[in-house]
Amino acid sequence: MIKISPSILAADFANLERDIHKISTADYAHIDVMDGVFVPNISIGLPVVQAIRKVTDMVLDVHLMIVEPLRYVEQFCDAGADIVTIHVESDTVENISAALEAIKAKGKKCGVVLKPATPAETVAPYLPMIDMVLVMTVEPGFGGQSFMADQMPKVTALRQMIDAVNPTCELEVDGGVDAKTCKTCIAAGANVLVAGSAVYKAQDIPAMIATLRGE
Ligand code: DX5
Ligand code: ZN
Repeated sequence: MIKISPSILAADFANLERDIHKISTADYAHIDVMDGVFVPNISIGLPVVQAIRKVTDMVLDVHLMIVEPLRYVEQFCDAGADIVTIHVESDTVENISAALEAIKAKGKKCGVVLKPATPAETVAPYLPMIDMVLVMTVEPGFGGQSFMADQMPKVTALRQMIDAVNPTCELEVDGGVDAKTCKTCIAAGANVLVAGSAVYKAQDIPAMIATLRGE
């Protein structure tokens, strides 16, 4: 069963409540938090997650593109995140592990994210304790970029690692996913697809969500 997590980075921030309701047939709502340091862009932060939490019961899939995530993960859980993912490149193994433990201690799901140049083996120290691995199929920082098909061998390697070590862990891909590239991601072993532009530019959003799922 494939899950779809539309990225609200492609929504109209001046009409965010309306645009959250537009994706209500999806499985998760993907929220991209960027600090202008880990990535060269600034998006949205805690107050916006709190505001979204008030207007939807959807599962909030919060992707933190920030340095030293340990400083903020508990606040994102308290703001209403259901899943919090942090980049393996953003701190030391000790601090990443501590941040993942802090998310779990809040009763929320935790995961790690890999930039395109980061190898699959990087997740090994965390894999037994996490609920999600997110593979970036663009350089993080901006929506609307082209899908990197060269990330698919990494997705397949991670699918094998997940099936061997922690089969309930989800495998998500993020960046340039559309009605065509979704098939490549599913074939490689992903079970959750993030899509920003493809969903919000669609004339019929529920139909696009169904298409991305392979329905
Ligand atoms: C990029 C973000 C993505 C982005 C995806 O740093 O993590 O979630 O919004 O947008 P599309 O689907 O347009 O590539
Ligand atoms: Zn994202």
